[in-house]
Amino acid sequence: MKEKLIFTNLVGEVVDGLVAELGNPRVAIVADTNTAQLVLPLLVNESKAAAAATVITVKSGDVNKNIDTLSDLWKKLMDMEATRNTLIINLGGGVVSDMGGFAAATFKRGMRCINIPTTLLAAVDASVGGKTGINFNGLKNQIGVFSEPVAAVISTIYFNTLPQQEIMSGYAEMLKHGLLENPDTLGKLLASSPVYPMFDATRLLPLIEESVLVKSRIVEKDITESGIRKALNLGHTIGHAFEAYSYRRKSPIPHGYAVAWGLVVELVLSHIILGFPSDELQRFAAYVLENYGAYEITCDDYPALVADMRQDKKNSSPDNINFTLLENVGVPRININATAEQIGGALDIYRDLMHIA
Ligand code: GLY
Repeated sequence: MKEKLIFTNLVGEVVDGLVAELGNPRVAIVADTNTAQLVLPLLVNESKAAAAATVITVKSGDVNKNIDTLSDLWKKLMDMEATRNTLIINLGGGVVSDMGGFAAATFKRGMRCINIPTTLLAAVDASVGGKTGINFNGLKNQIGVFSEPVAAVISTIYFNTLPQQEIMSGYAEMLKHGLLENPDTLGKLLASSPVYPMFDATRLLPLIEESVLVKSRIVEKDITESGIRKALNLGHTIGHAFEAYSYRRKSPIPHGYAVAWGLVVELVLSHIILGFPSDELQRFAAYVLENYGAYEITCDDYPALVADMRQDKKNSSPDNINFTLLENVGVPRININATAEQIGGALDIYRDLMHIA
C-alpha cells in the first residue's frame, strides 16, 4: 500500500482523523528522549489519540540506533500487549522513524505505523520511502527492511526550536531533490536561504511538499533501490567520503553540509563526464559557498577521500567508483563510473569554485 503524504500544520486533528480511519486501534508513540520532552506534550495537547497512547521512549542519537535499543522497543511493545492491530506513531527524526518503522515491520510479523517527522531532514528524507532498520557491527543501516508507513504527517510546527545546523542539513537534501527535478523547483530553492535570519519559515511548507513529492515519485517507481531510486544518492558518494574523513580528522561536519559540498563536487564530475552546463554548476556552487561555506581540503587529502569512496557499497569494481550524476538539471543518470583521476580533477575544480587555496 502506498503511503499517504499529508502536509499540514494541524497535526493533532490529522492524526485523530487517521486513527479513526484505521478503526481506532490502540496507539504506541515511539519518541526519543528529546522529542518525548519537547514535542510530545504539544502533540498530546492537540490529539485525543496521542493523549490516550502508550509512550515508548528510546535513547536519542544515531549511536543508539542499534539492536539493544530495538530489543528494548520490542520488549516495551510486548509489555503493553501490542498486537498486529496496534498502531505505532514515530515522533522524531530519522533515528526514530528508522527504528520505530523496523519494529513495526517486524513485531508480530508487521504492524502499521505513521511517521511524524520533527526535523526538516526527516521530513524531506527518512520519513518517506520506507527505508527502516538499525546500524550493526559498527556499520550504518546494515539490518533493515523496506516497509512504508501508512502515512507521513509533515508539518513545520516542530521546527521553530531546531538548531541552524538541522535546518541546513534538511535544506541540502531539498537542494538535491531540486537538482533531480527541474530548473523551476531548483530555482525556488536557490531563491531562498536556509540561514537565519534570511530563512523564511512561512515559505517552507510548500517547498517541503514539492521536495517530498520529488522523492515520493522516484520511490514509487523503485522502492527497493534496484534502479532509479539510486538517483537519490546524488551528492552522497562524495558527501559520505567528506563526512567519514571529517570524523577521522576529529573535526566532524554535519551530514547536510557534507551533502551540500558533495553535490558541488558531483556536479563538477557531471560536467566533466556528462557535459552538465557550466552556468548551472557555477550558480549552484556560488549558492553553496554563500550559505554553507566550503569544506577545506588540499590535494594531499585526495587519496584518503578516494579510498573512502572505494568502500561505497554501490561499486562493482575497485577500479571504478559508481555515481549518480546529472546530464542537466532534472536529467539524472545512475550507475556512472568515474576513475580516481576524474575524481581528482573534479576536486581541483571544486577547490577553485569554493575559493580554497
Ligand atoms: N535517502 C535516500 C533514499 O531514501 O533512498
